[in-house]
Amino acid sequence: MAKTHVAYVCSSCGAEAAKWMGKCPSCGEWGTMKEFTISKQKTSASIASLSTAKVNAPIRLGDIEITNEPRLDTGNAEFNRVLGGGLVPGSMVLIGGEPGIGKSTLVLQVILNIKNRKTLYVSGEESVKQLKLRAERLDTRNDDCLILAETSLERIVEMVKDVNPELLIIDSIQTISTEMAEASPGSVSQIRECATALLRLAKSTNIPTLVIGHITKDGAIAGPKILEHIVDTVLQFEGDQHYMYRILRATKNRFGSTSELGIFEMRQNGLREVSNPSELLLSEDHEGLSGIAVTAAVEGIRPFLIEVQALVSTAAYGTPQRSATGFDTRRLNMLLAVLEKKVGFKLSQKDVFINIAGGLKVNDTSTDLAIMSAVLSSNFDIPVPPHTAIAGEVGLSGEIRAVARIEQRIAEAEKLGFSQMILPTANYKSLAAPAKKLKLIPVSKVEDAFRILFKD
Ligand code: TYD
Ligand code: MG
Repeated sequence: MAKTHVAYVCSSCGAEAAKWMGKCPSCGEWGTMKEFTISKQKTSASIASLSTAKVNAPIRLGDIEITNEPRLDTGNAEFNRVLGGGLVPGSMVLIGGEPGIGKSTLVLQVILNIKNRKTLYVSGEESVKQLKLRAERLDTRNDDCLILAETSLERIVEMVKDVNPELLIIDSIQTISTEMAEASPGSVSQIRECATALLRLAKSTNIPTLVIGHITKDGAIAGPKILEHIVDTVLQFEGDQHYMYRILRATKNRFGSTSELGIFEMRQNGLREVSNPSELLLSEDHEGLSGIAVTAAVEGIRPFLIEVQALVSTAAYGTPQRSATGFDTRRLNMLLAVLEKKVGFKLSQKDVFINIAGGLKVNDTSTDLAIMSAVLSSNFDIPVPPHTAIAGEVGLSGEIRAVARIEQRIAEAEKLGFSQMILPTANYKSLAAPAKKLKLIPVSKVEDAFRILFKD
C-alpha cells in the first residue's frame, strides 16, 4: 500500500501547509487552502529517473567557459523575436492565453514550420483527428511531425524518452495529470507536480519544451503562481476575440528581454506574422471625421501608430457614462478632469466613449495627449488636421511630459508619410538631429496643443 499524506495547498500562490488555515500564511488570501493527498511512494520509475542531480562543486567565475548553444529557429520571425532569438535547448516556455485566442494554432504552426527535425506535439485537449483537421487548414505542410493524444504524465515522459524529439509541445498543462498527486487534472497539486516533472525532463534531456496554460478571468495563468516561477519563460498571447490581431509578449524571460512584442493576424488559414503593424492599424482613410486622433505609441520596444477614437455626447442620465476599450478608464477620468480644469470641458454633462482601433490595448502613457485631442475633436465636431501624429504624456496640471524613445516614434511617423507631429517640448530639445520630412511641433501645455490642433 502506498504511503499517503495530506497537505493543504493555497490555490492562489501554491504555498503548502500541514494543517488547514483560513488565511494563506504566504500570500494572505482568504479561503484558498485546499486539501489534497500526496502518495509518496507512487513516484513512477520513469519520473524518478529524471533526476538531474550531479555533484556540483563551486567553480571560479573566470574558469567558466561559455559554449554558445545554438538556439532552435522556430521558423516564425515574430515568435523568435519574443523568445529572444529562438528556443534555448532545455528551456521550458509557458504560453498563456484565454481559451480560443489561438495558442494551439500558434504552436501547431511552429512545429509545421520546423522541417527536417523531429518534433512531438502532445495534446490532452484534442484527438489526433482534430489536430489533423486543424493542420489541413494551415498553409504549411509537414507530414513528419509526431502527434500524441495523451493525458498521463508518466506515459508522456516514456514516449518522449522513446522518441527523443528536438522540440516538445504540451497542450495544455491543465489537462495532463500524474499518479503522484491524487487530485483531479487542472488542480493546484496536479499542475505543480506535472510542471516540475516536465521541467526536469527538459533539463535532463535538453529538449526545449513549450507548455500551454489557460488563463483565469482576471488574467492570471490558471494554477498556482509557482507555475510561472518554475518555467524559464512566460509568454502571454492576448487579443480581442472579435478582432483579428493577436499580440504575444514575454512577461518573464531568462534568455532574452521582456520588452519584445510579436504581432499576428488570425486568418482563415492560421496566424500570419505582422511585421509592420502601423500600416494595418491605419489602413482606413478617415480624413475629415471628428473624434479621431493618431498617436505614436511604443509597446515594448516597437513603435506603432494607433488610431484613437472618441465619442462625446450629452449625458442623458444624472451620472455621465465613461467607457474605454483598450485604455484604462481611471486614466481617462483623470484626463477628463484635466480637460475640465484647463479648457472648461463640462465633465458632468457629457458621456465619453473611447476606443482604440483594432482591439489593441495600450499601456503607453504617451497616448494621453491623443486621447484628449480625440475627445475635444468629437466635442467641438472639428476634425484633427490630417496627417498629424501626436505623442505626449499629460500631467495633472496639464503639463506635457517627455516620453521615451521619441526618435523611434518620429521615424515611424515619417515612414508612414505623416506630415507633422506634436511632441513634448522636453523631447524636442533633446533631439540629436532634426526630422527630415516631418514638421515637428513642440508643446509644453495641453492648451498649446489644442490651440494648434483646433485653432480657436
Ligand atoms: P485555438 O488555437 O484552438 O485557440 P486556443 O488553443 O488558444 O484555445 O484557436 C481557436 C480559434 O482560432 C477558433 O475560434 C478558430 C480560429 N482559427 C482561425 O480563425 N483560423 C485558423 O486557421 C485556425 C486554425 C483557427
Ligand atoms: Mg487549444
